[in-house]
Amino acid sequence: MIGRLNHVAVAVPDLDAAARVWRETLGAEVSEPSDLPEHGVTVCFVCLPNTKIELLHPLGDASPIQAFLDRNPSGGMHHVCYEVADIEAACRTLAASGARILGDGRPRTGAHGKPVIFLHPRDFTGTLIELEQV
Ligand code: CO
Repeated sequence: MIGRLNHVAVAVPDLDAAARVWRETLGAEVSEPSDLPEHGVTVCFVCLPNTKIELLHPLGDASPIQAFLDRNPSGGMHHVCYEVADIEAACRTLAASGARILGDGRPRTGAHGKPVIFLHPRDFTGTLIELEQV
């Protein structure tokens, strides 16, 4: 079902400081921050030859990553995103296997404007998984 690794998301308490680390210490190309109010995050993309790292910072009072940062004050890996060709088919296969899709179980539009779902970490060895239709 899953294809390429689309991105790894890292939640960070200080977006400017994190962007500097990736840009200056690690020598990577880092985008300017962009606010995604409908997702409650501000993101910077680190572009690597084979994938992206998404640096996530909470935006607004109801950010979905605030609780994660409360538990991990210095930041940490938040989720991995795999590409799928057909997200509706993925939903059906996952539901049939008993895996839990977060939210209402339906795809929604993700940070890249494409349909995504998130899968419960307890069903996937402790890792929050995002599937994105490409
Ligand atoms: Co993501």
